[in-house]
Amino acid sequence: MIKAINLTHYYNKDKALENINLEINKGEFVCLIGESGSGKSTLLSNLSTLLKPTSGDIFYEETNYKNIKNIDSFRKENIGFIFQFHYLINYLTIKENIKLANEKASDDDISTFLNSLGINDLKNKYPTEISGGQRQRASIARALINNPKVIFADEPTGNLDSQNSQKVFEMFKDLSKKGTTIIVATHDKNLAQIANKIYEVKDGKINK
Ligand SMILES: Nc1ncnc2c1ncn2[C@@H]1O[C@H](COP(=O)(O)OP(=O)(O)O)[C@@H](O)[C@H]1O
Ligand SMILES: [Mg+2]
Repeated sequence: MIKAINLTHYYNKDKALENINLEINKGEFVCLIGESGSGKSTLLSNLSTLLKPTSGDIFYEETNYKNIKNIDSFRKENIGFIFQFHYLINYLTIKENIKLANEKASDDDISTFLNSLGINDLKNKYPTEISGGQRQRASIARALINNPKVIFADEPTGNLDSQNSQKVFEMFKDLSKKGTTIIVATHDKNLAQIANKIYEVKDGKINK
């Protein structure tokens, strides 16, 4: 579903990624692990269209990223993003935050959806009224409301305790079982064990 061929990324003259080759299949839950500065975020950002490779190619299904005409609508149609800090709007309830991501979703749709994620009881609360773990699950719900085919998450549990981190990864696992492709960058080797596939990034290369 996503394929990188000889992907190399430089920040000015500094090489961050060198000749990365990988292939991710539909419905796979993939973790990119590695120490801080190894290149995980750079790789995730290239795979998710946020950064452009210095050289090499990336494909989404049969489409080379270089040939995507409207990158905004491509992202909107296919991709969900989750970051370390949740970016929910504090002045809106969880339900309203989710509506912001998809104005077409009805209250019933949102309830059904939140129920399936086990967080429907939070829908009328404000982000400041719930725990960090609950906020992160709400932000995952927001990333999912448009039913993206692929989810990219960069250190999604970076500010969570181990119990909440585990819950977030279990949520990813369940989603992948339903066919969503999940690609997560994490420095946490233990959490990564739940994934179907682990790539270790070291000094901008993948250790096989
Ligand atoms: N915006 C940037 N400009 C310049 N160098 C960067 C930038 N982002 C990351 N780097 C460098 O690229 C390398 C890989 O960083 P990064 O992909 O953020 O690693 P990780 O996510 O594994 O911590 C590091 O040496 C980092 O300093
Ligand atoms: Mg990073």
